[in-house]
Amino acid sequence: MTTDTGSRRIGFIGAGALGSGLALALHRKGYTVRAVSSLTRQSAEILAGSITGCNAVDSPQEVADTCDTVFITTPDSVIELVAASVTWRAGQQVVHCCGASGKELLKGAADQGAETGAFHPFQTFAGITGPDQAVDRLTGVTFAISAGAGLADFLTALAKELGGRAVTVEDDNRALYHAAAILSCGYLVSLLQTALSTLEDSGFTQEGALEAVLAISRSTLDNVELLGPAASVTGPLVRGDAGTVRKHLEALQQSNPPVAALYGALTEVSLPNARQRGMDAGGEAAIRETLAEAGFHHTLGKR
Ligand SMILES: NC(=O)c1ccc[n+]([C@@H]2O[C@H](COP(=O)([O-])OP(=O)(O)OC[C@H]3O[C@@H](n4cnc5c(N)ncnc54)[C@H](OP(=O)(O)O)[C@@H]3O)[C@@H](O)[C@H]2O)c1
Repeated sequence: MTTDTGSRRIGFIGAGALGSGLALALHRKGYTVRAVSSLTRQSAEILAGSITGCNAVDSPQEVADTCDTVFITTPDSVIELVAASVTWRAGQQVVHCCGASGKELLKGAADQGAETGAFHPFQTFAGITGPDQAVDRLTGVTFAISAGAGLADFLTALAKELGGRAVTVEDDNRALYHAAAILSCGYLVSLLQTALSTLEDSGFTQEGALEAVLAISRSTLDNVELLGPAASVTGPLVRGDAGTVRKHLEALQQSNPPVAALYGALTEVSLPNARQRGMDAGGEAAIRETLAEAGFHHTLGKR
């Protein structure tokens, strides 16, 4: 616990998945979570009821009036509106947890002299059934911070208290940073879903497809962790096998053209890894030619 962990009064506006989990996690680490408001009184009361000394209040203003550090954990679309609707004190700390945006969402608070910042966990809270699970999901994750020096120090300490890592991601880089979060989570799901439906198109049952895809995906994630991404690449690319790539593209173009386009784009971005794994220049040229014949003229994969 850092020296001022317990003395600073922390409040939450928005008692949803992340707000509830973060509030509970901070309380368990010895922070003073003093007040919470939400769109509905019920959400605020449920969260306040699980934290000793925390009051459910009726408005964001009451949170601001009774706390030193306020987390706005509403949906992204209303953060700016909420921040601008409150009267803040100079020196007060106001933080949101949106990934794609930075301090600009809190301009309404900064204009009144508050210190503002963004604190985004690189984690998903989909599928959780309550704040306890959210607390578990917050453990050991990476937090992307954008804030002025004093607030950044506080948020960095907080990330460490939660067993995680703090990384500075400046406001201009946050859209790119958050795109990576979506690629790691939501679009990973889309990719797995695409593999599942493609297997079903090839004759698998739904259940059989899920078993097959989960087994190979888990092994692949383990490989990436143990060996790194380049060493985990397998399949026709590593061998420079343009003939097999052509067969895949032709079959996908017949069964599901958007998936063929996805396959083509992924083939291109995979070429640098395949080169590291031993694909020679001739193999790469043959695969690029196959992609061009299939109508792919992207600039992807040329980094
Ligand atoms: N979910 C994730 O996986 C995840 C991951 C990383 C970061 N985040 C970030 O965390 C933040 C919160 O996301 P979430 O997933 O926790 O959302 P959520 O589960 O939908 O919760 C949002 C909460 O905000 C409350 N709310 C809505 N409009 C409000 C308003 N105008 N004033 C006050 N409270 C309001 C809702 O109240 P009621 O319950 O009373 O209706 C709800 O409790 C977002 O910035 C999001 O980008 C989320």
